[in-house]
Parts: sequence; structure tokens; C-alpha cells
Amino acid sequence: MTHMFFNTILEAPADPIFGLRTIFEADTRKEKINLAVGVYQDEHLKTPLMNVVRKAKEKIASQDLVADYLPIDGLSDFCEALGELAFGKTAWEANCNRIAVAQGLGGTGVLQVAGQFLTQEIGRKIAIPHPTWPNHRNIFLRAGMEIDSYPYYNKEGRSVDFDAICLFIKQMEKRSILLLHPVCHNPTGTDLSREQWEELLSLIEEKEIIPFFDFAYHGFGEGLDIDRSTLELFLNRGCEMIVAYSCSKNFSLYNQRVGALFIVTENPIVKLRVQSQVQRVIRSLYSNPPAHGARIVREVLANPHLYQDWVVELEGMRKRMESMRKMLAQLLLTKKAQIDYQYLLKQKGMFAFFDLEKSQVRRLIEEFAIYLPDNGRVAVVGLNET
Ligand code: LMR
Repeated sequence: MTHMFFNTILEAPADPIFGLRTIFEADTRKEKINLAVGVYQDEHLKTPLMNVVRKAKEKIASQDLVADYLPIDGLSDFCEALGELAFGKTAWEANCNRIAVAQGLGGTGVLQVAGQFLTQEIGRKIAIPHPTWPNHRNIFLRAGMEIDSYPYYNKEGRSVDFDAICLFIKQMEKRSILLLHPVCHNPTGTDLSREQWEELLSLIEEKEIIPFFDFAYHGFGEGLDIDRSTLELFLNRGCEMIVAYSCSKNFSLYNQRVGALFIVTENPIVKLRVQSQVQRVIRSLYSNPPAHGARIVREVLANPHLYQDWVVELEGMRKRMESMRKMLAQLLLTKKAQIDYQYLLKQKGMFAFFDLEKSQVRRLIEEFAIYLPDNGRVAVVGLNET
């Protein structure tokens, strides 16, 4: 008799963010509005490819006729150009000889490679903020890590709970890893101030903690330069760190899966050893990355005209998010609610954070067809003026 093996498998829970998309699409109510996913939408609530990215895509059409595999760690000039973008030209040039880099599969893919590298070479203990992007937990669990979470957000003050973060770090074991969002904290949009980053850096050094930055929203906070200033600060201090950079949002390359992993080491000799171990992880996970998206990004960053256009277009997207946030806050302020919604104006990036109860979110979806994830995070790009 044939044996059945799969019938004991239980259905997995729906993803808290992507799962909502399916339900939203099936919803037949005309007034429905999707504020759930962190994907840029223009004033028509569409997600087109950025103009400049479309131009770059046309320019690289002939390069795409080269069909051979990329190296395990991807296109080296894409990695170089992205390093300059992520850390700033001066800091990158002064430090790149000690930074291992590998092209990866969007933010998620890069985080997974980093997690596996850490488990294999450094240790399993990682602390992620609470709240954070829900996929962080899934990714690092799959990478074999032991996850702790540190308090990040003060509900009463609607601000970063800096004292609680510092207290947590003081109790962390040496050599454990601390996941940080350098800008546009997801989901709260609430970031540390420059002074707080400086204090945190000193504490991290004192406690021998490894900082790991998830850099998914470069350019969406206060602009490219300010958004990378935390990385520059850490780099210039000479410390080792990890950066997972995603090109999904700021190049509108969501479905091309483009990003890079940067591991800042002590010196060029350590860099080479680290690079070889990262290659080993990638080889066993997916062998080598796809070329198309990285070629597009390389073209945008290498061509001065395209780069200039990209900066302008990105700034336009940032401004739209800022103005939708203001509009939302002003509308709520006219309601004379118990909450002073001025706090929303201090948040940055794609999200406005309301810290709602699950039952309130459910009511918004069921009664009003307003879709957002359970944590009360609102993607302001899902709003327009009409
Ligand atoms: C989000 O937070 O909504 C985005 O980063 C999309 C995702 O992959 O969850």
C-alpha cells in the first residue's frame, strides 16, 4: 500500500503583511483602501517603476544578453557603487579595504545570508527591537539564531524608549548581535536622535556588542545624506558591523530582489576571510544572485545623469510621504481626539504608527475596509488627496 507522508502537515498562518493583500484583493467594497504593505504608491495609488529605473533598464538591455552565472557574491562594481551610496563616498573610500560585500536577494535575502553567516561564525544570539518588522523573527529563526527582543518604543511618550534600550544593552552578553534600523524604523517611523546614536555607539563598544543595521529605507527619512549619517558615524569610529541594504524601495525594484550585505571588519586580511565565508553561505543557499536588477542599479549609480535624476525622483517620493503624513495628522487634529496627533509629524518614512489594539484594527478592516496590519502601522503612501 502507498504511504502518505504529507497529510499531517498543518496550514501555516498567513503572513501578517502579505497575507492581507490577498484578503484586500478579494474585498469587493469600492471604498476599500490598502495601507498595509510598505510599497511606495504614487498619487494615483499605483506602484510604477521609477522613471529613471525604466531608463536604466532600457540602457542595459544588451548587457542582459550575457547569460553566464554571476560570481557567488555578485557584480563587484554594483557592490562598490552601492557601498559608496550606503556609507557615503568619503567614508567608503577610507574603509572599503576592510569591508566584505556581497550582492544579495533584496533585504530579506541579505538578512538571511547575514543570519546564517553569524550562526556559523560568530554566535546565535541576536536581539531585535520590539516592535519590529515581523519578518525579522522568521528570518533569524530560520537562520538558527536565538532571538531576544529589546523594548524600542515608549507608548505613553510615543517616542523611542532610549533608557530601556540602554538598560537592555547593558545586560547583553558580549559578542551578541543587536539589530538596529538606522532610519525610518519599521513599524513606528520613530528614530533615535544623533545624540542618542552617539551614546548608543559608546555603549555598544563598551559592552562588546555587534551592531547589525537593516537599511531598507535609504532616502525616505530625511534624504540620502542624513539617512546614512549613522552608518558613517559607526564606520568612522572604526568598529566592526553588519549592514543589510535593500534596493527594493528606493529603486522601486521590489520584484527584482536587489540588495547587498556589507560586513565591516578590522582590516583587509580579516575582510578576505569573511568574504570567503559569506561566499560559502551563499553558494549553499542559492549559488549566486540574478543579474538584471543589479545591472540596473549599477547603471543608475554609474551614470551621472541618471544618478542626478534618481536623486530628484527619490526626493519627490519622500516629499509625497511627508505630505501625506501631514495631511493625515491635520485631519486627525481637526477631530479633537483625546490623542495629540502632532506626534505623527515626528515620524519618518513610509509609515505612521498608531499602536492600535488588534480588535481596533479588525474593526477598521471589517467595518470600514481600511486595511492595515495588526500592529496599527499605516503605510501613508496608500493615501492621496482625493
Ligand atoms: C513591509 O514592511 O511592509 C515591507 O517591508 C514589505 C515586506 O516584505 O513585508
